[in-house]
Amino acid sequence: MEAMHASVLGSGYVGATLAACLADLGHDVTAVDIDKTVVERLNAGDPPIAEPGLDELYSKHVGDRLRATTDYDAVLDTDLTFLTVQTPAREDGSIDLSVVLAAAEQLGETLAAKDDYHLVVVKSTVIPGMVEEEVVPAIEAASGKREGEGFDVAVNPEFQSQGSAVEDFMQPDKIVLGTDGDNGPDRALARLHEVYEPLVERSGAPIVETGRREAAMIKYANNVFLASKISLINEIGNVCKEYDVDAYEVADAIGLDERIGAQFLRSGAGFGGSCFEKDTKALIAAARAADYEPELLDAVLGVNETQPRRMLELLDDHVDVAGKRAAVLGLAFKSGTDDTRGTRAFPVIDGLLDRGAEVVAYDPVAIENTREQYPDIEYADSAAAALDGASGALVVTDWDEFAALDEEFTTMAEPVVIDGRRIIEPTDDIVYEGLTW
Ligand code: UDX
Repeated sequence: MEAMHASVLGSGYVGATLAACLADLGHDVTAVDIDKTVVERLNAGDPPIAEPGLDELYSKHVGDRLRATTDYDAVLDTDLTFLTVQTPAREDGSIDLSVVLAAAEQLGETLAAKDDYHLVVVKSTVIPGMVEEEVVPAIEAASGKREGEGFDVAVNPEFQSQGSAVEDFMQPDKIVLGTDGDNGPDRALARLHEVYEPLVERSGAPIVETGRREAAMIKYANNVFLASKISLINEIGNVCKEYDVDAYEVADAIGLDERIGAQFLRSGAGFGGSCFEKDTKALIAAARAADYEPELLDAVLGVNETQPRRMLELLDDHVDVAGKRAAVLGLAFKSGTDDTRGTRAFPVIDGLLDRGAEVVAYDPVAIENTREQYPDIEYADSAAAALDGASGALVVTDWDEFAALDEEFTTMAEPVVIDGRRIIEPTDDIVYEGLTW
């Protein structure tokens, strides 16, 4: 294999991981970010995001074939540039392309000075059409070059989960390469194949060659499908609960049908995180913009809002929390992260506050992130301390340590436990309600 010289624009979650993983594949990589502090941290081998295996990759490759800089000119010494900046959500759910376009413009200005061919690879999540209609024109205007002549633009989405980003990169289910039309797809594809050849050798992952619009849609379809799967099992689970059926036994059985598959069938409090809700809303907004009313996607979000409400209603069946302490166990959107974006804990906290409860919350790592949103609730430094004297406890995140809780429940004033993640072991000492079982 011939090592490629790659630049990565944006050192957030996706970019910081990508840069290190590409270096590990044997490429020479320069991460470019406008944030000086981030660049200094990367160069010190101390990436600003916590992902298993990432620190090791930075320690291994910084000073050798991996470096970071604030200087866009670094792009000039590379064969291709990955755009990994964020596409935040607007108020109406549609995505805000301004960060991508600003990066594209700066990249274009830099490419004006490059004589050789350059490949631009969009990794940011974008709606089909945005690359052709907005990103390419921005690069063309700033560089004074036409796509297909001095440069090509490809779409290459990522499918990484938080907490396993490095592993997901190194062992992908698929590598999606979107190139198009008469603007040199062969040249772009050839370069992308060179980049990913060592990954294909390591992982055996299949390469999917497709168009740019399809590549962009594959990313949305992938996430929205998974979000829908969770909402569907949650809806089935809600019916299960009404009929005294254990939704987990049902899920285990239907998961044996290969057409359904065993993963993403854990019903409960619903999905959080930075992708599922955002991507579903973005696809809904894109559908509406095209005059198509997406009924199912609306329902996917609707069911996800229902789940925390049902937890609170189950609590209401057993205890009136007005004026009493109520415990929330778990604040992160899933275990293994301190990220609280989209966490189902927030609607649960809101519901408890609406009921006049004194909320006491605990999470092993996500308290600081929650404090920004809820500065006035009480935070406990252990699950045991949160449960002490509480009338009701709602379990929102599947932290392993919650599975070991037992005696701690006996210190509750009213030991009612609503489990949103099937993590608590029911005992005779508590009133236990599983959300979907
Ligand atoms: C997700 C996708 O998995 C990833 O491919 C994409 O690139 C980004 O979005 P992430 O948000 O990190 O990754 O978390 P994930 O592990 O997928 O879980 C998302 C949410 O769904 C969590 O709140 C989790 O608790 C919930 N979930 C997951 C369920 O409620 N039930 C399940 O069966 C699986």
